[in-house]
Amino acid sequence: MDTRKIVGLIACDPRGIIGNKGICPWSYPEELEHFRRTTFQRTMIMGRKTFESIPPATLKDRFNIVFSKKYKSPFWVSETVVFVSSLKDFLELTDIPDHKEMFLIGGAQIAGLFFSAGLVSEMLLTRIHKPYEGDTIFPLGLLEGWGETILKKEESFTIYHYTKPEKIYEN
Ligand SMILES: NC(=O)c1ccc[n+]([C@@H]2O[C@H](COP(=O)([O-])OP(=O)(O)OC[C@H]3O[C@@H](n4cnc5c(N)ncnc54)[C@H](OP(=O)(O)O)[C@@H]3O)[C@@H](O)[C@H]2O)c1
Repeated sequence: MDTRKIVGLIACDPRGIIGNKGICPWSYPEELEHFRRTTFQRTMIMGRKTFESIPPATLKDRFNIVFSKKYKSPFWVSETVVFVSSLKDFLELTDIPDHKEMFLIGGAQIAGLFFSAGLVSEMLLTRIHKPYEGDTIFPLGLLEGWGETILKKEESFTIYHYTKPEKIYEN
């Protein structure tokens, strides 16, 4: 794999809640439209639990890379769905479309994996204004020190663009 940009694309409540009992706790049509427009005909990276929570219509017209340790990787389910079992296998993946950006769409485990490895350089984060019950959290502290701009403000949510700061070396 070349060094394509990996952009996080996640929605969370004020505390960072992203999921509850395997599903997304909210449904805002305009937010879903933002997700669909952003990822249309692009590559999405996700964990197996997120893959299982997404309706097939949302996977369609996208290239899907799914993380799971259950299969010998790469495991091609179809021309547009491939399972990988480690970051190493992901980085060595070939035969993926030439998209300049890949969208890391969650969930929390896979976001943690990519952030820990320093592989995420930008993030499109939708902050849902209302708090929800949940059992899966995106740790908002991961974005501390990142550049922040507001892309869109709606009544129920605000979409932010975050950019990772350049490393500052002391001499
Ligand atoms: N609000 C949002 O924007 C948003 C976005 C995405 C998801 N969600 C929600 O988040 C929840 C799911 O998130 P989650 O954190 O529980 O799960 P997840 O990250 O979607 O998937 C976890 C799975 O990924 C695989 N995995 C984890 N680490 C791995 C590694 N190092 N190498 C290979 N595979 C690895 C494992 O699959 P195996 O068990 O198969 O080995 C693991 O069970 C759901 O409630 C979903 O609705 C919300």
